[in-house]
Amino acid sequence: MTKPQSLDELYARFDGMHMEGGWHRRFPALWPVPEENFLPYVWRYADVYPVLEAAGDLVSTEFAERRNLTMRNPVEGNRYATVRTLVAAYQMVKPGEIARSHRHTPNALRLILDGRGTTTTVNGKRVEMRPGDVMLTPNWAWHAHENAGNDDCYWLDFLDVPTVHLLEPMFFERHPNGLEAEVEDVEISPVAFRWEDTLAALESSSDDAGGMCAAQVELGDPALDTVRLYMQRLAKGATRTHRTTANSLFAVVEGQGKTCIGDTELTWARGDVVAVPAWRAYRHEASEASVLLRVTDKPVFEKLGWLREEIA
Ligand SMILES: [Fe+2]
Repeated sequence: MTKPQSLDELYARFDGMHMEGGWHRRFPALWPVPEENFLPYVWRYADVYPVLEAAGDLVSTEFAERRNLTMRNPVEGNRYATVRTLVAAYQMVKPGEIARSHRHTPNALRLILDGRGTTTTVNGKRVEMRPGDVMLTPNWAWHAHENAGNDDCYWLDFLDVPTVHLLEPMFFERHPNGLEAEVEDVEISPVAFRWEDTLAALESSSDDAGGMCAAQVELGDPALDTVRLYMQRLAKGATRTHRTTANSLFAVVEGQGKTCIGDTELTWARGDVVAVPAWRAYRHEASEASVLLRVTDKPVFEKLGWLREEIA
């Protein structure tokens, strides 16, 4: 190969070698503070509910295991994620429907919105899920669910699938027998957080998350390797303003209000999901006493030394 004789020849040579000069980048590699990529957004249960009902009518039981609606962040170029590291979805399961046992490397959790009679079986322990309950299905745990009741059941799923997409260790498999053979019914499980227990813990909690709520309790510590969960009670009125390098999704368990993120105001009510991407200053303004479930990738940032938080 000859030696390039000019800068133009040098840059042309880079292209042919799939290389780039650090002084001559097409896109910067470092910048002083986190960029604003993913967008603040709200998905409203009232809008989703009739769509899920229609999906229940139109999408047959054979696809029922995938009858969920993922919340795709509207930022340009995004194909799947709700915020950079997490995805949220609404799911509806009709009476008699079963999702066969399977496991995957993504960590997942579920918040029940409406309907009784659905059980989730995690590693052979079967728990009935009721509204307000939170259920974990950690990395590689066998899990299945079944609606043995009379109600259509609605819940929210949260998974770290986008984190797995980034790091690539995606594995998924179905249980060889369809369902686990040995199943025990339990009322108490380390992967289930009961609404009544959460409410009682909130009553006695003095943790106000630095003024970001009236009281909060953490479910698990952390709930999953990649996810922390906080159930937060808001009093009527505004919280302080919070900014963190971690990403958050807020699910409205009770109440109504709005979340202000820069110039964006996102109003919410029960069952809605609010996306607060990394490093966006936000505050909540509840118009009545409310409860939010905060789902955040904070453990990832803690482990890697990248958690920065400010409360103003
Ligand atoms: Fe799953």
